Amino acid sequence: MAVEETDTEVILTHPDDNKTCAKILKYGATVFSWTLKGNEQLWLSSAAKMDGSKPVRGGIPLVFPVFGKNNDDEYLSKLPQHGLARNSTWEFLGQVRANPPTVQFGLGPEFANPKLSKLWPMDYSLVLTVELGSEHLKTHIEVSNTSSEQLLKFHWLFHTYLRIEDIEDTMVSNLTGSTLFDQMLQESYVDKQPVVSFHEELDRIYKKVEGDRVVQVIDKGTPIHTIRRHNLPDAVVWNPWVDKSKGMADFEPKSGYKEMVCFEPGHVHDFVQLQPGQSWEAYQLLYKDDLKYQVV
Ligand code: BG6
Repeated sequence: MAVEETDTEVILTHPDDNKTCAKILKYGATVFSWTLKGNEQLWLSSAAKMDGSKPVRGGIPLVFPVFGKNNDDEYLSKLPQHGLARNSTWEFLGQVRANPPTVQFGLGPEFANPKLSKLWPMDYSLVLTVELGSEHLKTHIEVSNTSSEQLLKFHWLFHTYLRIEDIEDTMVSNLTGSTLFDQMLQESYVDKQPVVSFHEELDRIYKKVEGDRVVQVIDKGTPIHTIRRHNLPDAVVWNPWVDKSKGMADFEPKSGYKEMVCFEPGHVHDFVQLQPGQSWEAYQLLYKDDLKYQVV
């Protein structure tokens, strides 16, 4: 069966290859596993909470309606870091296509975590579409403002934990020339390095990266992940390294930082603003490609 539903999960299996699968937890509509021809592509902490008591540490948590912690907005500032989508149980809307197997999940105030919804009393509807190709995984989001009078303002981000072999052999390419906010240094600058490499905790928000920039995660010269973005101008690159990993109870094993890098396409440099009745859509496409070095 291409799509299997349990009480807590939805599992997609590609009809041409039963070792190409995606597993989605209804809690957070979190894709927590994507195997391509038997090889796991995403990183998931062995201590990740899968019971709805905490956002999943790993896979592709969804960040909405606020990235990080907001201090200015009357309502968004009341929400916890990264908002409420990753800590709400989404409704499984069903399968919309047989091949590639494609499913949808929905979230609105009626389903969202009630404690958090009280803090951010907005009318909205989210539809997440997950498409499992024989060579790709596409996660598409549509956000609609279902209010008849209020403006809807929000951030969106796919907080993708990519599995890698060794962080010290890993580089992230094609971000050169973009302006970033370095969360470690708390300052903005233009990235002039030919690639991003990792030697310590790294937490950067790249802003307004051109849409045709195809970012690659490269292991010892070979691209192991390629990421295309649609309508997601910003991208966070994050690796917690030793100390930050130690401080996260749900991050295990503690050496796990060596085997993951987060590349997180989003719209976070400012808020997307939707008038009543308006919608916005975006997607992230994960696939494999040859080395593509895009010269600035
Ligand atoms: C990243 C942020 O997106 O998420 C980091 O840039 C943050 O600053 C990380 O530490 C993890 O956040 P959380 O809330 O899942 O621990």
